[in-house]
Amino acid sequence: MKITVVGAGAVGASCAEYIAIKNFASEVVLLDIKEGFAEGKAMDLMQTAPLNGFDTKITGVTNDYSKTAGSDICVITSGIPRKPGMTREELIGINAGIVKDVASSLVKYSPNTILIVVSNPMDTMAYLAHKTINLPKNKIIGMGGALDSARFKYRLAEALDCPLSDVDGLVIGGHSDTGMIPLTRLASRNSVPVTAFLSPERLEQVKEETKVGGATLTKLLGTSAWYAPGAAVSSLVQAIACDQKKMFPCSVLLEGEYGLKDICLGVPVILGKNGIEEIVEIELNDAEKTNMKESADAVRAVNALL
Ligand code: LAC
Repeated sequence: MKITVVGAGAVGASCAEYIAIKNFASEVVLLDIKEGFAEGKAMDLMQTAPLNGFDTKITGVTNDYSKTAGSDICVITSGIPRKPGMTREELIGINAGIVKDVASSLVKYSPNTILIVVSNPMDTMAYLAHKTINLPKNKIIGMGGALDSARFKYRLAEALDCPLSDVDGLVIGGHSDTGMIPLTRLASRNSVPVTAFLSPERLEQVKEETKVGGATLTKLLGTSAWYAPGAAVSSLVQAIACDQKKMFPCSVLLEGEYGLKDICLGVPVILGKNGIEEIVEIELNDAEKTNMKESADAVRAVNALL
């Protein structure tokens, strides 16, 4: 199993690290445009192998896509990250050009790959990938909901004052400060609805904290986060590589599901060896349906800037 990660910045390097630590891939190629940068990150990561006990071989290359040839899964993290006060949508001008070039170069050498798009504004970048390269729709996956759901679980556990492993929660919709839809109605603590423990006001607060989860970290760090994004990508990669048939919310091309067409938006999907094995349609209530429509309208407005 060969995996390529484009962009050796904080998100790309964390992603490569988590993939290696989970020890399911034979090879990870880290590619960056900055001379020697991916080589350095790969060497540093490889020197953790005797300490962390993994056998995945990580190599770094400067912009040489021929070295990525035959990748089963490719991840695009390249582009500029947001600075404090910026929205993900403001990155479109620079990142659209980068994602287009990177996606085209990747499929040139790995025509059968499964592509995971992480660059922001992610829903629009996933849509752009569909428009740019000729991969079937089950093979282009936008990573956002898995990360947003992890942040939702963190906020839920904080509110419940319980371990994170006790909580379950799902975030659908756009990967943006306003477009995310944390499904508080379905969130649970060991199968008991969280509504049994938390007041509507506290749940509303959890929802709002989740939606600005990325912005909160960007303000604290001065740039966007990397540990949870890297871990979220590695979980998607593992689900595909190991044919786990695990369910994650991902940004995928919708063709009528949830009443939406010609848009990439976060919905629950089953991930396995074919990439998206199935789009799961869950019953939404009227308020959630309205949220989904508003979220889609906001993503379409960004898509129109392409
Ligand atoms: C974040 C970036 C990866 O939410 O979009 O941290």
